[in-house]
Amino acid sequence: MPVETCPNRVATNCSEGTSGELMIRPSASQVVDRLIRRLRVSDPPERFQRLACEAVRAMLAVEAVAWVPTARREAVVIAGQVDRLDVDSLRDLTPENSGGVWVSSGATKPADSPFRQAAVAHATGDGNATVGWIVAANPIDAVAFGPEVELLPTVAALIATQRGNARLYGDLKELVFGVIRSLTAAIDAKDPYTSGHSERVARIAVRIAEELGLSSSERGDLYLMGLLHDVGKIGIQDDVLKKPGKLTSEEYRQIKAHVGIGVHILTDLKKLHHLLPGVAHHHECYDGSGYPAGLVGDQIPLCARILAVADAFDAMSSNRPYRRRLAPDQIDEIFRKGAGTQWDRRVVEALFRCRADVERIRQKGLGESLRQAVGGTLGRG
Ligand SMILES: [Fe+2]
Repeated sequence: MPVETCPNRVATNCSEGTSGELMIRPSASQVVDRLIRRLRVSDPPERFQRLACEAVRAMLAVEAVAWVPTARREAVVIAGQVDRLDVDSLRDLTPENSGGVWVSSGATKPADSPFRQAAVAHATGDGNATVGWIVAANPIDAVAFGPEVELLPTVAALIATQRGNARLYGDLKELVFGVIRSLTAAIDAKDPYTSGHSERVARIAVRIAEELGLSSSERGDLYLMGLLHDVGKIGIQDDVLKKPGKLTSEEYRQIKAHVGIGVHILTDLKKLHHLLPGVAHHHECYDGSGYPAGLVGDQIPLCARILAVADAFDAMSSNRPYRRRLAPDQIDEIFRKGAGTQWDRRVVEALFRCRADVERIRQKGLGESLRQAVGGTLGRG
């Protein structure tokens, strides 16, 4: 929270900061309100802890406020400055009594203590175990703390809540990451001949999306859609999926079913619902001749129009059981002819603008972090 300069020297909620500036002191209810509104599980705990320490420091008008985690591998967060204050002196303030606020008595402190006055409140997590404590040190313009110090246990509880939820969020993110990786591996295992296709389509789609000016969160979603666009092929019979020759109409009908199967597989993953349009419609054609819905033009979600181009590019650039990969000139010619009928002309033009990059992406195999994309997806709503 930024420190605001007080315009009125006689206002009672103003105090002088350590560098002589006047600061507005937020009330306890303002601090709680601000912290609750910033209680985001996707934020790193240290960010919320710093925010909380800064808010409490402004409210109490003290030289420093620190969050001291019990686990020594976690960072101690300090807002403000106190002479000779270090992590050891903060850890020495662990009160025996873990309830309420413990206010130190200056008289009992050694002469070299950095604290004239310190107030401490514990935070507990699962099983009532102490996860850390918050320390407010040295009131600036008074010898004792004001009544607002009673808010410290509430702030400590908010820090513990955000820290615990952020950990659960991290676990959920890893779970979704693992599910997507497993599904992608299952698609690759189903048809080793097209191994890596999903990953390449995902990366190519992201590069085209960048060319079209899509935001980073839209690109993150597109990356996941690219990974999962053919997940329904898990449900297609091997002899049909890997058939080297021409497909019969019945076999083609079975292949086309992969989009519906893909949607069905992902339907129960509620956090991935916004990815379904890409999975469902990546075989639609701009002129309405595609499947499954025969959507026309802008009726087709943009993500699906981008995936269609990325998918076709990678398919034409790869060897298949029934043909060799096409030369770059042939691929460009097919895209030129199909722009406006099979594919969205604007997407094809975007592909041409970043053609060299797309070729490099296809060959190299390093792309956007899946963890980052999963984080963006879970951070929605
Ligand atoms: Fe497909």
